[in-house]
Amino acid sequence: MKTPTTSYVESLAYQAGELLRNGLGGPMQVDLKGTIDLVTEMDHRSEEIIFDRIQTDYPNHTIISEESGSLKNTGNQQWIIDPLDGTVNYAHGVPIFSVSIAYAEDGVVKIGVVYDPMQDECFSAELGNGARLNGQLISPAKTTDLNSSLLVTGFPYDIRTHPENNLDLYARFTLISRGVRRFGSAALDLSYVAAGRVDGYWEIRIHLWDIAAGGLIAQEAGAVVTKVYGERDYLNPPYSILAANPRVHPEMLEVFKEYRLERNLI
Ligand code: IPD
Ligand code: CA
Ligand code: CA
Repeated sequence: MKTPTTSYVESLAYQAGELLRNGLGGPMQVDLKGTIDLVTEMDHRSEEIIFDRIQTDYPNHTIISEESGSLKNTGNQQWIIDPLDGTVNYAHGVPIFSVSIAYAEDGVVKIGVVYDPMQDECFSAELGNGARLNGQLISPAKTTDLNSSLLVTGFPYDIRTHPENNLDLYARFTLISRGVRRFGSAALDLSYVAAGRVDGYWEIRIHLWDIAAGGLIAQEAGAVVTKVYGERDYLNPPYSILAANPRVHPEMLEVFKEYRLERNLI
């Protein structure tokens, strides 16, 4: 069985990232997928670069990618790709976005790479072998309580219509932490938990390609990664994610459990 190395996966992310870096702020075709959900021509071009190389080098692997859907193949080797995570930022010229690539076998992610082209920061992890930022091992923050924690979250694109829109949880966590950021790239949010820049990240109704690579990076760095009510199988639907340093994760989990209890009572 031919398997990719981490540096191969990184090279895919670097190549796509270079395209995105060079295109930022330039003219581009932008289409609406939903009311606020965009896709730019750069999402497609980044995806093409990654797709073409994987198909050439690993023709019998399955590829799951945000814009093109699934290219199914026999065999147990899969790629899960978000060619541009942070599209809304990108379309507005905000330099916060990433390329996210995960390689999995039998549904278990073995390699995760998240590349931030504007900072030239490459977060990577191999299952069982720790997480790295530009080659240096990283670990989560040592903050001991929620009160002193900096958090980050994101909001689903159906925020205007779905009753579970994360706004009440956003308000709740804002009042009991040092603050809650909204950077706009889930893959980077997870990588920042891994690198100890934020203490915790959560999101509901997230997609597999947003969290497959970053989830492994956070986990391998030493963060606890679950669904928002604590289930371990965060790569199975219905997707939600709660990643935090091991001291703060239980406290965040309590907030979600209380919230659920209150909602059930209403
Ligand atoms: C989005 C970003 C955002 C998150 C959304 C994602 P996209 O991905 O990761 O931070 O809040 O849930 O869909 O659309 O920019 O690839
Ligand atoms: Ca995404
Ligand atoms: Ca995307």
